[in-house]
Amino acid sequence: MIHKEFLWGGASAANQIEGAYLEGNKGLSNIDLLPYGEYRLPIARGVRKYSDVPEGLYYPSHEAIDFYHHYKEDIALLAEMGFKCFRFSIAWSRIFPTGLEDEPNEEGLLFYESVINELLRYNIEPIVTICHFDVPKGLMDEFGSWKSRRMIDRYEKYAVALFNRFKGKVKYWISFNEINMLLHKPFTAAGVTIDENEKRNQVIFTAAHHMLVASALATKRLREIDPDAQMGCMLAAGEYYPYSCAPEDVRVAQIANQETFFFIDVQARGEYPRWVIQKFEKENIHLNVTDEEIQLLKENTVDYISFSYYASRTSKANTEGVDTNTGNAAGGVVNPHLSRSEWGWMIDPIGFRITINSIWDRYQKPLFIVENGIGARDKVEVDGKIHDQYRIAYLSAHIRAFKEAIEEDGIPILGYTLWSAIDLVSSSEGQMEKRYGLIYVDKDDQGNGSLKRLKKDSFYWYKKVIETNGEEL
Ligand code: BG6
Repeated sequence: MIHKEFLWGGASAANQIEGAYLEGNKGLSNIDLLPYGEYRLPIARGVRKYSDVPEGLYYPSHEAIDFYHHYKEDIALLAEMGFKCFRFSIAWSRIFPTGLEDEPNEEGLLFYESVINELLRYNIEPIVTICHFDVPKGLMDEFGSWKSRRMIDRYEKYAVALFNRFKGKVKYWISFNEINMLLHKPFTAAGVTIDENEKRNQVIFTAAHHMLVASALATKRLREIDPDAQMGCMLAAGEYYPYSCAPEDVRVAQIANQETFFFIDVQARGEYPRWVIQKFEKENIHLNVTDEEIQLLKENTVDYISFSYYASRTSKANTEGVDTNTGNAAGGVVNPHLSRSEWGWMIDPIGFRITINSIWDRYQKPLFIVENGIGARDKVEVDGKIHDQYRIAYLSAHIRAFKEAIEEDGIPILGYTLWSAIDLVSSSEGQMEKRYGLIYVDKDDQGNGSLKRLKKDSFYWYKKVIETNGEEL
């Protein structure tokens, strides 16, 4: 049985829902500079500059679904579904518009205070991601974002401003969303670009170190400011399977899994895994790690491990002639045993249970599933209904899988926030048409639409799931 306090809910991210990108004194962030269309991916990967694109492009984060002005209406819908929790993120550049200010922006704090109060009014637990990919542009211009050690102080200031303001109201914090995405999309994940004269891994692991130290420092400060609250790390998870039982395939899958776990190894165990230290030596990567930082990492590991799971991945030593188009940044090859979403993502509920077991076996800390869902095209019928049976099928199979992990494997899971409660801008493509929500938002990829909210069939289905504590799927 799932325990009674299990936190059923949904997730979101500031840059994918809020819009109002310059309102309330908000400053620009890296995500505000990501256009829709062909330039998006090369910029996301850090290999093309955002300043190097033609004018007149469409920037989906600027309005998104305008949660900034619709939050009351949206939260009422979440409450109607019986949500026990809601995961959202705070836009750093709403609190520190350039990132360089000494004092936080009161208007930004007030906005999130209103959101949190509104959630608490309905007894919905806020789950807050401090940084879901977005970095103020001012910090990119001044420091090159996380390439610089000076980011650590700025992040600390930001986190402390949030802890002081929201202590006693927010119990679950997450320092960085999908921190391992830095390896795949450094600009999207952390505002980092790789200049022509720079070595990619030197840049990435330097930025990684600064983020890991910042996360440990925020954990330390949270314990001082609000000892009842908990800090979690967040992993873009999904087991890498070997394509075959050929040892070469097994080995590449093992390496891919180790790389995925690298950040969480540091955040949950408190030290760098040995293979990374060997890699640094071999590749001539130099990090300026101080003794204080080593101690900080050791002493401030996270309380729980949160993660997203969309699909498993598959690794093959020799990928010649094999389909590698898995639709997802995490790479790998197509698994012939699985079906796929319209965007080519693998669908693998058993892989969910496998992934949960792997994370638990490795860290033995409580888990929190904070993203899981399917991007699909929805059709609004003439009567305004949306029959998203494919979404219900995906979600119910995945809920069954994590229930087995709880009930049969005995793994402690705090909650489940599916992706997503409401349609939002997709992170990779900047599309609205790749819909994840249980609530439909009338808006298309070019930015047209009334922003009207409609309840999909999955809305009513999830309401029942929550009501029966996962018994009726
Ligand atoms: C995760 C992110 O990578 O996957 C979300 O944390 C994102 O921000 C989600 O939206 C789904 O990916 P996408 O690219 O389809 O939006």
